[in-house]
Amino acid sequence: MSKKKGSTPVTSAKAAVSGQALSSLVWKGDRLSMLDQRLLPETIVMLDLFTAEEVWDGIHAMKVRGAPAIGMAAAYGVVLGASAYDGTDAAGWLEHVHGVCGHLATSRPTAVNLFWALDRMKKRAGEVIAEAGGGQVEDWNAGLEHEAVAIQAEDEEVCRQIGVHALPLFEDGMGVLTHCNAGGLATAKYGTALAPMYLAQENGIHLKVFADETRPVLQGARLTAFELQQAGIDVTLLCDNMAGMVMSKGWVQAVIVGTDRVAANGDVANKIGTYSLAVLAKAHGIPFYVASPLSTIDLQTATGADIPIEERSAEEITESFGKRTAPQGIKVYNPAFDITPHEYITAIITEKGIVQAPFSDSLTALFAD
Ligand code: MRU
Repeated sequence: MSKKKGSTPVTSAKAAVSGQALSSLVWKGDRLSMLDQRLLPETIVMLDLFTAEEVWDGIHAMKVRGAPAIGMAAAYGVVLGASAYDGTDAAGWLEHVHGVCGHLATSRPTAVNLFWALDRMKKRAGEVIAEAGGGQVEDWNAGLEHEAVAIQAEDEEVCRQIGVHALPLFEDGMGVLTHCNAGGLATAKYGTALAPMYLAQENGIHLKVFADETRPVLQGARLTAFELQQAGIDVTLLCDNMAGMVMSKGWVQAVIVGTDRVAANGDVANKIGTYSLAVLAKAHGIPFYVASPLSTIDLQTATGADIPIEERSAEEITESFGKRTAPQGIKVYNPAFDITPHEYITAIITEKGIVQAPFSDSLTALFAD
């Protein structure tokens, strides 16, 4: 692998090629090509990242976002970081890799996929040294690269399986509301919450999707509305505060969202506003589904109260739509995620099937074999 440093925006184009799905992350062998999601839907820019530090910044600044994509990016960050090791001994290399992982772990706190992917890379680092029977730095780096590529390939299949399991819950003509972006842009392909929508389309089932715009970063408006529209799926954009109205009209038969971390008791962390939707869904007798890969289920975290919630800058709220939208000096509270208590969740849909309450038992059972 080359050790070239620096980052170059390589592509800039107005509007997407219609119908062509964008990949958030493309591994190029010596660099990670990362779609700058902050610029969507107006502009498509793929950034060339050559260092772990650049990947750290990509995650922290939300150039890449969405729990599985954050994990995948971090895995490639480890590969890039490992390639910067200039020693030759195994112990030094392993210590270096652990240091890279420790730094990447500070990029964002809530999505457990970040820590899941870093743990997997650390485990693989230990294994490749043993497997190579000593070997050389190049062999160990190649082992890490193989693991990162595998994480991304597996994610595509995991998301498809979530879609396969979820699809029977959705009938032709149903209205389905989603929040934030848990789609192809947040994963290797298909998404988690959006996977059943793509599979419904493949199967000739027409769903009418309502996408919350998702204040303050507008992942629903900028990303979900964009990728579903590009795919030719029927999608209607709503302001977040319209969900109750739309439900009361009888237009929504199911809510489905993604998640950044599922606690052992079934409490779910997801984009701020998810909890309000779950309460609204319950009030209207609408099922509330959470789509989650096993890599997002954290049995080490007992309840939602134990999940670290990221707080982001005040400017995300006070400088909306390209201008100042609140008085100077105003106090701001900007949690990026909230916790939906498990009582509000009808079912959690995973690649291994659908689980329901009591979640402490059903989630544990998913990891039994
Ligand atoms: O702050 P973000 O954009 O990273 O938040 C993303 C979400 O909340 C998604 O719903 C979640 O990560 C699941 S993505 C399959």
